[in-house]
Amino acid sequence: MSKQHKYRRLEQASPEEITALTDMVNQCSWRQTFHIQPVTGLLNDPNGFSYYGGEYHLFYQWFPLGTYHGLKYWYHTKSKDLAFWHNEGIAIRPYDRFDSHGAYSGSAIEKDEKLYIMYTGNTRDKEWKRHPYQCLAVMDESGEITKRGTPLIDHVPAGYTEHLRDPKVWEDKDMYRCVIGAQRQNLTGAAVIYESPDLIEWHFRGEIKTKLDDFGYMWECPDYFELDGKGVLIFSPQGLSPEGDKYQNIFQSGYVIGKPLNRNTMEFEHGDFEELDCGFDFYAPQSMLDGKGRRLLVAWMGQAEVDYPTDSHGWAHCLTIPRELKLHNGQLIQQPVEELQKLRGESVTAECMITDEHRTLEGITGTAYEMICEFSALEAAAVGVVIRAGQSEQTVIRYDHGIQKVTFDRSASGEPSGVKYGTTRSCKLDADYIKLHLFVDTSSVELFINDGEKVFTSRIFPQPDSEGIRFFTEEGSAHLKVTKWDLAKAVD
Ligand code: FRU
Repeated sequence: MSKQHKYRRLEQASPEEITALTDMVNQCSWRQTFHIQPVTGLLNDPNGFSYYGGEYHLFYQWFPLGTYHGLKYWYHTKSKDLAFWHNEGIAIRPYDRFDSHGAYSGSAIEKDEKLYIMYTGNTRDKEWKRHPYQCLAVMDESGEITKRGTPLIDHVPAGYTEHLRDPKVWEDKDMYRCVIGAQRQNLTGAAVIYESPDLIEWHFRGEIKTKLDDFGYMWECPDYFELDGKGVLIFSPQGLSPEGDKYQNIFQSGYVIGKPLNRNTMEFEHGDFEELDCGFDFYAPQSMLDGKGRRLLVAWMGQAEVDYPTDSHGWAHCLTIPRELKLHNGQLIQQPVEELQKLRGESVTAECMITDEHRTLEGITGTAYEMICEFSALEAAAVGVVIRAGQSEQTVIRYDHGIQKVTFDRSASGEPSGVKYGTTRSCKLDADYIKLHLFVDTSSVELFINDGEKVFTSRIFPQPDSEGIRFFTEEGSAHLKVTKWDLAKAVD
């Protein structure tokens, strides 16, 4: 594809092209019910997740005209309650000197009753060499967004390559700080810190000194915050190789926890890197602190450089549901925000013993629902649930008690995606009681196990009539309690 075509602006497409694209997207049977998804084209990272003017604001990376990574805009959605979302339209157009090749990822913070949006302006020169700028746009209470004409940070600090992007800003007692994803001259990934008294004038303070000196070739979308007195650094390292069940996706997202970052020396003493999610489609998460003091997280439910079955229908990807982060036994756990209960419609509850069988239960089927299944009195070698089951399709979630492993199997889920990276994902879990909390949408599954101790986030692409749900045990019995709620349409 030519560069001109790849970097096409929305205005360069004819009204007929956009109408045809929109019609094709709207006819797609994999359109989601309660997830944020693009009206056309490709969505990637969540950006500018914030609370401002009495509403949650959630922006995302958007290329409207195709399902490849073309010219990136910021698209704006907002919500009063984190459950129902409203599509607001384009927030940032990449039409200026300092963002000519994409308004890349960034974050937002309130100051002086305005929302300050800090993002990376991606540019390319005539030789196609990348020059990143860290830019500012300010949104007022009426929702109007004005770009500052000149960048806040106009060069890459010595020792780093042109891969410097994704500023995440926060306010400390003494000043504002931001963390930016970077690549060292020796082609290893890192995160660097800048400081500012006023969000306008920024000073380079150096790298966060971690013990991960050689951990992938680039760290995208870093995010630093403190939770229960601990420092948490989330980032998306590119270039890790698989290790057992870990790092199976093309790109990873995870975190390290330690003592709070030393603001003088930039030293960060921390534990091991842990992946945030065990599923197939989770990347570039971004957090925010809300008015209730909760640390909330949203991620891109997708991966770069992987083809998806919706590509040929003119759209790709969605965001995850909002989750609350908590610290538990030195790990980050994720739980769906409680406001999502507002989406609950009709419910069905059942309870029974299951012994060496696959059991269906009256009224428990569907394609867009929330379901909590609790397996107790676990005497079986394996327990699990089969969802989106049809003639020849099924998505299987199982817990093998003996080897203490949870496995998510999408090998027969429907239209395949990313099979090059395998069709199952597994993780260790030591438990005698299993609670599977599922959010199933038309083409995705978010699974929270034992109150968020482990999370699997994955896209699946079944036929619309694959609605079956079955519960099973192997080699023994278990007690099952299940409740399922239909979920309402949540985005307009
Ligand atoms: C992560 C990422 C970011 C960049 C953005 C561009 O998915 O590559 O580093 O800012 O996407 O869309």
